[in-house]
Amino acid sequence: MKDFENSLDTMLEKAFKTISNGVENTKSYFHTPTVCTFEGQDISARTVVLREFNEQERILRFHTDQRSPKIFQIRENNIATVHAYDQEEKIQIRLKGSIEIHHQDSITKNAWKNTREMSKECYSVKDSPSKEIDNPVEFDIDKNQIDREMGYENFAVNLFTFQYLEILYLKRSGHRRAMFKWDNDEIKKNWLIP
Ligand SMILES: Cc1cc2nc3c(=O)[nH]c(=O)nc-3n(C[C@H](O)[C@H](O)[C@H](O)COP(=O)(O)O)c2cc1C
Repeated sequence: MKDFENSLDTMLEKAFKTISNGVENTKSYFHTPTVCTFEGQDISARTVVLREFNEQERILRFHTDQRSPKIFQIRENNIATVHAYDQEEKIQIRLKGSIEIHHQDSITKNAWKNTREMSKECYSVKDSPSKEIDNPVEFDIDKNQIDREMGYENFAVNLFTFQYLEILYLKRSGHRRAMFKWDNDEIKKNWLIP
């Protein structure tokens, strides 16, 4: 996409393309963005795999173990920020929105059906993620012993919907930074000083 930095509309288009590319392209930095949520008064950040991007609805899909602390934290406060920086593209994207958790419903069923066998294994770990333990070896997954389908009961889908997108493009001749804010069907767009 050439000269996308010259208009707000093409900046947004580029941002959407960059996020989209992160779904299938495992080499893209947007394949593993950072999701930040509240942990009481603290902020918690972690890497997750981007599974789907619905451009129309501005929804990013992530998977997680429903026993993990972040699920409880998000249920308390679902405000979230997603961030990634692509070193090759020299593009940083920041998204602000909220997360909806799904567990054992049509959304998780569909996502589980399309989850690779290897990824399903993670959900069969015998205790909750983040639990303090003495010996990590005890928690290694024995691939021959587990019934991968049992992991479904621990499988959760996080749907992150954003209302704010900011893109920063680093360019020798002059950086470009722009913000986009959605309010129902209205969209406010503006350049920002980089
Ligand atoms: C490359 C990479 C990909 C990851 N993908 C996920 C993921 O898709 N979902 C997830 O819950 N955790 C994923 N993790 C682990 C999280 O970063 C985090 O350590 C874990 O989920 C515990 O987070 P919590 O204590 O906030 O619940 C990934 C970590 C790395 C390094």
